Amino acid sequence: MKKEIHRMSPVTESLDRIAAEAPERIGGAADLDELERLRLEFLGRKGRLTEILHGLVQVSEDQRPLVGKRANQLKNEIVGLLERRREALEGERLRTELAGHRLDVTLPGRRPWTGTVHPLSRTFERINQIFFSMGFSLAEGPEIEDEFHNFDALNTPPDHPARDVQDTIYLEGGLLLRSHTSPVQVRHLQSHRPPVRIIAPGRVFRRDTPDASHSPVFHQLEGLYVDDHVTFGDLKYTLEKFALQLFGPGATLRFRPSFFPFTEPSAEVDCRCVFCAGKGCGICKRSGWIELLGCGMVDPNVFTAVGYDPERWTGFAFGLGIDRICMLVHGINDIRLFLESDVDFLSQF
Ligand code: PHE
Repeated sequence: MKKEIHRMSPVTESLDRIAAEAPERIGGAADLDELERLRLEFLGRKGRLTEILHGLVQVSEDQRPLVGKRANQLKNEIVGLLERRREALEGERLRTELAGHRLDVTLPGRRPWTGTVHPLSRTFERINQIFFSMGFSLAEGPEIEDEFHNFDALNTPPDHPARDVQDTIYLEGGLLLRSHTSPVQVRHLQSHRPPVRIIAPGRVFRRDTPDASHSPVFHQLEGLYVDDHVTFGDLKYTLEKFALQLFGPGATLRFRPSFFPFTEPSAEVDCRCVFCAGKGCGICKRSGWIELLGCGMVDPNVFTAVGYDPERWTGFAFGLGIDRICMLVHGINDIRLFLESDVDFLSQF
């Protein structure tokens, strides 16, 4: 009995000592190398605890389960201690590394901010290209006009309602903001000789209270073709080709007799609704048709006003509302969005 106590006592003592020193030493390990040395010291093949476990055979049989259990518990404790210290040391190492490198390469990259082309510019671009392909070239005129170019030369009588201050925005000195792109016709005819085949895209201004479908600033594209023997058939052909290219095959136009002071005869042109194939939908307001433009044969009085012989020259003109076409093509329901510079809206295009 005495002998047995004596024999197991060093084992128990060693376990006590290990249990006493392990937490402090492992917890105090300065780095991962030191931690590895401690692991080997306790749990390595020749480690202190391993030796004890191997030496269990020498412990008396009745004590063996107890001592064995204690040794195994201690082993698990040490494994746990080593693991926690390793995590702590690795965390520390990562933190010092990150502090050293201010650059966190794991952050998602910042995309460079790129602008987009304004939807109206896109629409202009597309329509311009179609007319360029038919031999039209670009013409421009001022946004600040005079009454001669905006009205008089366009055969618009002095009492015409379009001249009313309710409709046209007048400036000082007999000037005004052009109320349509038609004055570009006058300027171009004055400064060129036929054959003339131009489109004139641009901003126009009318005294309108803004709502979803009205804006005091909107956009038109004027077309003008002047030469010998230009006919209404040429006008129809040109506009039909244009509609086919803009809206795709199946685009059908309808010409309705109308009146403009500067064209005779005049027509308003609708396109069969491309969204419902003419059946009637919300976009064409159940009519099956969408208003596209005004057009007609250049009035002889316009030729006279710009010094052309009306017996010699013939021509057609048309004026397209760009905002409406753009709204149709992109499903935009408020014309004011075009002028608000709202990035959320614009970045969709
Ligand atoms: N200028 C006209 C308008 O603003 C459109 C138009 C242009 C009509 C050319 C006929 C010929 O309504």
